[in-house]
Amino acid sequence: MEGIILAAGKGTRMKSELPKVIHEVAGVPMVIRVYHALKEAGVEKIVAVVGYQKEKVAEVLGDRAVLAVQEEQLGTGHAAQVAMPYINDENVLIVAGDTPLLKGATLEALCKRHVETGASATVLTCFLGKPYGYGRIVRDGYGKIIKIVEEKDANFEEKQIAEVNTGIYCFKTSELKEILPLLKAENAQKEYYLTDVIPLLLSRGKGVETITVQDETEVMGVNDRLQLYKLTKEVYRKKAETLMQEGVTIIDPETVYIGEEVVVGRDTVIYPNTFIEGTTVIGSGCVIGPNTRIKNSTIGNDTEITYSVVIETRIGDRVNIGPFAYLRPGSEIAAEVKIGDFVEIKKSYIGEGSKVPHLSYIGDAVIGRGVNVGAGTITCNYDGKAKWETVIEDGAFIGSNTNLVAPIKVGKNSVVGAGSTLTEDVPEKALAIARARQYIKEDYVK
Ligand code: UD1
Ligand code: CA
Repeated sequence: MEGIILAAGKGTRMKSELPKVIHEVAGVPMVIRVYHALKEAGVEKIVAVVGYQKEKVAEVLGDRAVLAVQEEQLGTGHAAQVAMPYINDENVLIVAGDTPLLKGATLEALCKRHVETGASATVLTCFLGKPYGYGRIVRDGYGKIIKIVEEKDANFEEKQIAEVNTGIYCFKTSELKEILPLLKAENAQKEYYLTDVIPLLLSRGKGVETITVQDETEVMGVNDRLQLYKLTKEVYRKKAETLMQEGVTIIDPETVYIGEEVVVGRDTVIYPNTFIEGTTVIGSGCVIGPNTRIKNSTIGNDTEITYSVVIETRIGDRVNIGPFAYLRPGSEIAAEVKIGDFVEIKKSYIGEGSKVPHLSYIGDAVIGRGVNVGAGTITCNYDGKAKWETVIEDGAFIGSNTNLVAPIKVGKNSVVGAGSTLTEDVPEKALAIARARQYIKEDYVK
């Protein structure tokens, strides 16, 4: 089957400068989530209808979908019509771009039912505790679907119906192509409703089926920020529950935000106010948080990270990070390293067992094993035009408050006196001091 994602709407109720479908749920744009559901269901060709700020939606989609442009957003029926010329398969699956928690398996069940019954249309419905805002499924005395009525067009009785349209359907392509041009915008919103295809098909004696999904969160649409929040919360809650079931301790799952792709090993403890995002992988026996953000990073086993920010960094086993450290992209921290308070590391390698315990900036540096970097050490990596490298070899001892003006190399097992500003390389096992000698004026105070 081929698929269509309706993603041209503005999303007025979001009150946003951005098109609705690129807003993120737990770090993933809604339209990408819908795309993944279609892919999971085995849909190969996907047409996305774009319109409002189409460049932005297109950028997010990349080359995942064929784009059909709906210049004016005249309604879901009109949006489907714009996409139909790109559809060649016998059947088509149509999904709204604003139902982000949709599962591939549900779409698969819908398509299967559609093909098995040979219906002209199959509507995915759901019973909601609070159906407000959704199109309602109106049935006759025999329980057969007659039409779908939108909230704004519904009368009092229709508003009591708890069964709603999820905005997800399968259609026979040829019949949909015939019917769509017949839609009229005679409704409260003056839009061409895709839902009006149902009574038109029925009036021609065509079969319309429904299938009901049980889990309502799966088909909840996002029309405003409150709904966006609710679904985001749901994703984080589920992820925390899964991790706890797999042997991770989470002190308070209400206050941790862990992306669905994140992997965490057993007996790791996650403290509150912690964000773990993207493709992060954390080993076992770690202590993470409180108040920590880790993004697209790999962390070994038995490592502790507290009150810190770690972005695109690899960290080994038995490392201690923080409090208040900032590890920036492209850094690698080997096993048993200590990165302490108020330390920033950028695009640097820190070798096994080395320590950068306090108040340092380490950028574009390669630091060997067993190095001690004294408090307040700065790698002066930038000369105003270009960035340069600092190399500190194994076993070197850098005294406190040292400036290392790059490019520079500090040799193996050498010592740098505190308060030095070094501009030249230091040989192995040497002592380098670059500061004014102390000067004593006897009896000065007298
Ligand atoms: C729609 C359904 C409603 C259903 C609900 C489920 C119609 C008329 N109503 O209502 O029955 O209960 O979804 O969530 O279909 N879009 C376009 N072009 C347009 C208009 C919309 O591409 O001209 C896209 C939007 O970007 C969005 C999707 O279609 O992704 C649904 O549009 P939206 O305005 O959110 O429809 P609802 O009012 O939620
Ligand atoms: Ca919607």
